[in-house]
Amino acid sequence: MPKVSNESRHRFQPPAPLPGKLPALFQGLATFRSQIEGLPEAAFTEPAWQPPLAGMPLFVMAPDLVRRVLLTEADLFPAGDLFTRMMRPVWGDGLLLAKPDSWRVQRRATAEAFRPGAVEQLTPFFEAAANQTLQRWRALPDGQVDIFEEMKRLTFDVILDTMLSGASAFDRDAFAQTAGKFFADISRIRISYILKPDAWHAERPSIDSPHRAALQSHIRKLVAERRNAPPRGDLVDLLMKARDPETGEGLSDDLLCDNLLGFIMAGYETTSTALTWTLYLVAAHAPTRERLRDEAADLPGNVQDLPFARAVISEAMRLYPPAFLLTRVSVQDTEMAGHRVRAGQRINIPIYAIHQGAAVWRDPHAFDPSRFLDGGAPPDRFAYLPFGGGPRICIGAAFAMAEMVTLLTTLLRGADISLSPDARIWPQTGLALYPRHGMPMRVKVR
Ligand code: HEM
Repeated sequence: MPKVSNESRHRFQPPAPLPGKLPALFQGLATFRSQIEGLPEAAFTEPAWQPPLAGMPLFVMAPDLVRRVLLTEADLFPAGDLFTRMMRPVWGDGLLLAKPDSWRVQRRATAEAFRPGAVEQLTPFFEAAANQTLQRWRALPDGQVDIFEEMKRLTFDVILDTMLSGASAFDRDAFAQTAGKFFADISRIRISYILKPDAWHAERPSIDSPHRAALQSHIRKLVAERRNAPPRGDLVDLLMKARDPETGEGLSDDLLCDNLLGFIMAGYETTSTALTWTLYLVAAHAPTRERLRDEAADLPGNVQDLPFARAVISEAMRLYPPAFLLTRVSVQDTEMAGHRVRAGQRINIPIYAIHQGAAVWRDPHAFDPSRFLDGGAPPDRFAYLPFGGGPRICIGAAFAMAEMVTLLTTLLRGADISLSPDARIWPQTGLALYPRHGMPMRVKVR
């Protein structure tokens, strides 16, 4: 039986922006600082909210409206031109931006490689990367680290090990350096982009980076060599073998390369921020830490079989969702919860506010992993969306969960992790939801 100390009965509300109560104009100005700080109280309490400026996106929060946009009427709410303009340099014609016919073939083929049984085979890669991190920590003189930087490094190692290794032509360090510059270029989202109507972006070129060509050439060389090499059991093998079960079609080399670069981007920022917030919550809440340790100690074998670790990660992504906002465009005039929606208008799905919605969640701002235990599914499938929903739901969800459970458990088994007394905790929006002041911690390898 897990030990439950008295502390677990104490309510723990981690620091984060709460429903804004300022007048609309001031609240709107807060958006310039951080998109989640600009959310008014209505985003946490109403089914939908229309900002008071003409042409602004409609925010939809009620699960039945979100279900309409993402699932039942998904064809009427595709990704818009702003989204495409930002993502094209990363994804090319790959999964995220593929037109419906190509998307179907790519999605069915890659789904093979990303199904839970397949990704669990990757556990040894995850464990090895976490053990390397522990070794590096052991050598630190004072154990002081920024856990956010550590998690970025660790999840990038996992990407390189599972997606981009095993070819002699591949220069790991050169790739990592160029990728860092590329991501920094692509991440520069200006608030002015968001304020422009979606159609404005259709006329504008993609946001590009001079480093894309170099990355593509690294990946191309790797794919060419791997086509003729013995299998290594990594994600590239799974993707090369993958076939659309209906047509038997696989991915061309061009699409394989576009998707690999896309997967790197999609899996890097999201997973590293989710793990950083999870480790923060674990370090800040002793009962959770104790229970995680007990669960891991009792484990007979398979590291994936850890319900409490899964619940903690799920609760961390509820309070600090890496993908804090999804966006779509309506292709036609319609109506939602009494609001008129015009063709071409953007629809925003503020995951951050939905995850703390007063109508759906009990004690919504408190950290309580037990909500996800013992069949404690979310109150509504469309009220908990860390991986999105509907046909475009994250294809990497099982991969990310398997990776995060293994990394979290391996790190906590090997080290004591505590928050630095001077840590300042606050979430900041960028491409993902990251800690504004980093995450200073002390690690002590056992
Ligand atoms: C904690 C980690 C992750 C989070 C929170 C996350 C979140 C999301 C979300 C919310 C979407 C839906 C976007 C939308 O509807 O507009 C998405 C899509 C996607 N994600 Fe993830 N993701 C994660 C990890 C990964 C990983 C590891 C991979 C690949 C290795 C990946 C690959 C993708 C792809 C390919 C799509 C587009 C799917 C499609 O359009 O068919 N993600 N992700």
